[in-house]
Amino acid sequence: MEILKVEHLCKTYGSGETAVRALDDVSFTVPEGQFLAIIGPSGSGKSTLLHMLGGVDRPTSGRVYVNDTDIYALNETNLAIFRRRQMGLIYQFYNLIPVLNVEENINLPLLLDGQKIDRSHFDELIRILGLGDRLGHLPNQLSGGQQQRVSIGRALANNPAIVLADEPTGNLDSKNSEDIVSLLKMFNRNYRQTLIIITHDEKIALQADRIIAIEDGSIAKDEVIRQ
Ligand SMILES: Nc1ncnc2c1ncn2[C@@H]1O[C@H](COP(=O)(O)OP(=O)(O)OP(=O)(O)O)[C@@H](O)[C@H]1O
Ligand SMILES: [Mg+2]
Repeated sequence: MEILKVEHLCKTYGSGETAVRALDDVSFTVPEGQFLAIIGPSGSGKSTLLHMLGGVDRPTSGRVYVNDTDIYALNETNLAIFRRRQMGLIYQFYNLIPVLNVEENINLPLLLDGQKIDRSHFDELIRILGLGDRLGHLPNQLSGGQQQRVSIGRALANNPAIVLADEPTGNLDSKNSEDIVSLLKMFNRNYRQTLIIITHDEKIALQADRIIAIEDGSIAKDEVIRQ
């Protein structure tokens, strides 16, 4: 089943002479549970695409369907709720809240959404992420790899349908990168979470089920590696 459908997506930043067409008529579908890598040169539109998929920023034109919901037909409030419940976003620089500890950072999206914390899900997440002895630590008391694991925990706390990661290992050494990718793959397989990762790292891209290459705001190549 298709979990994501993108139709004729265009995004232009600014207007007039300074307008930048970051996405130019992008269409594709993603089956549920797929691990998709998005590659392409700097400035080609990868992050822009991920933001459009994640309900973070509205496209100039075109549509994004998640589980048949036309997400940009939703009003701002419903789009925010949809984003919190269905999407897990992971960034290169973690974006943790500095004054909140590990446990608070991970549970923040649930609290913002007025949801009860599912203690057994939280405990399992913490065990898998290996953060059990760091729950009371603040982000600046953690290593880069640990901070990224916290941001994965935050993205997965609500069991999202789709996990979107923008160069999640771009700031990590190779050992930590491998650990982070293994974790994301494990969640992708065991929980059937659809996983979309932007990466410059060929070793990571080659672990995906499919690679989409973006160039100048368009799909230059779309290759299924494994079913
Ligand atoms: N908020 C913005 N306002 C204006 N232009 C923007 C904005 N965000 C991105 N752009 C432009 O849109 C184009 C695509 O940017 P995007 O961030 O999607 O690229 P990218 O493929 O993620 O690059 P990188 O690999 O360097 O992260 C670039 O030319 C960029 O300068
Ligand atoms: Mg980017």
